[in-house]
Amino acid sequence: MVNKSSNKNLKKASKAKKDEFYTQLSDIEKELVHYKAYFKGKIIFLNCDDPEESHFWKYFSENFEHLDLKKLVSTHFEKEKPSYKLEIVKDINKDGKINKLDTVKTKLKQNGDFRSPECIKILKEADIVITNPPFSLFREYVAQLFEYNKKFIIIGNLNALTYKEIFKLVKEEKIWFGQSIHSGDREFRVPEYYPLNSAGNRIDENGNKYIRVKGVRWFTNLDYKDRHDDLILYKEYYGNESDYPKYDNYNAINVDITKNIPMDYKGAIGVPITFMDKYNPEQFEIVALGNSRNNFTPTKDYINPKKVMKDGSEKNGNAINCVLAFETKIKPVGVIHYVSDNSKYLIAPYARIIIKNKKI
Ligand SMILES: C[S@@+](CC[C@H](N)C(=O)[O-])C[C@H]1O[C@@H](n2cnc3c(N)ncnc32)[C@H](O)[C@@H]1O
Repeated sequence: MVNKSSNKNLKKASKAKKDEFYTQLSDIEKELVHYKAYFKGKIIFLNCDDPEESHFWKYFSENFEHLDLKKLVSTHFEKEKPSYKLEIVKDINKDGKINKLDTVKTKLKQNGDFRSPECIKILKEADIVITNPPFSLFREYVAQLFEYNKKFIIIGNLNALTYKEIFKLVKEEKIWFGQSIHSGDREFRVPEYYPLNSAGNRIDENGNKYIRVKGVRWFTNLDYKDRHDDLILYKEYYGNESDYPKYDNYNAINVDITKNIPMDYKGAIGVPITFMDKYNPEQFEIVALGNSRNNFTPTKDYINPKKVMKDGSEKNGNAINCVLAFETKIKPVGVIHYVSDNSKYLIAPYARIIIKNKKI
């Protein structure tokens, strides 16, 4: 219930381009603690920030000396008017410390859009970009980071993995999940005008509103040790073949839960996208993503496919030609499925990443 409503809230926010979800300090601390060595002597840029609200700014401005930063810059976004940036570089107030009391606020000529020439100029000088970018502009945001060859730690939604632009980067081993969030939902503070329509959302004693969001993950291109640990496999394919059905339109076996990946199967394996939480690039190869023809090539085309709804009514079923499919001889009842002129009943599983075990 909670998650459904929160996802609805996110969708609404995305539609209305209301992107004000403020990351909690505890979530920021739990992730950034793993990258301390990378921050030393570096210029950190928070480019989708609202420094007056942002815990990213709080974290870096309060830890400037501890992290031994060279410079901290944050730009604030305004929809339709010029904005400002905040910077910390040196001990302006001569109190012997560099911290938020040394903040310099400068007006921008533009509105602080991460795509504006002013922000791109700051981006070019920066070493590491860290933020919670607008959900509605995630693809564009990531594309820009790669265009300027930046290191980054950003927070987003797990489902962004299934975007063809992002999946390509995942496959090429250019972006991966961060270390600290691998399950559950996370709480974000939202502005006063956001509707709270789910039991899991709350208002604190100061009137601040919070929503819980499912499927949140950190995305980064900074390496860390734990992502090179092998996933321990203990299941066997041979002798248990019926637990691992093959797709009808792709030569791979299906695994519904990552821990059930068999240790003795050399071929392609379809796994849930949450597999990426356990992905070690030395152990597995990422081959494809069974959610679109952009990301995989089915071995079979279904002729005249129809989608059969839960109530038995039929619609155009072309979608089955773009995703992985299981065939079943028994007619599914009360379940959305597909039929075609050259198959029996077809069922599409949730999005599956196709992997291969490199160590067999
Ligand atoms: C999800 S919020 C996160 C805010 C902040 N980074 C945090 O986590 O506390 C995204 C922020 O990006 C800002 N934003 C929206 N569109 C933007 C754009 N085109 N360029 C830069 N920032 C933008 C929003 O105003 C919002 O403050």
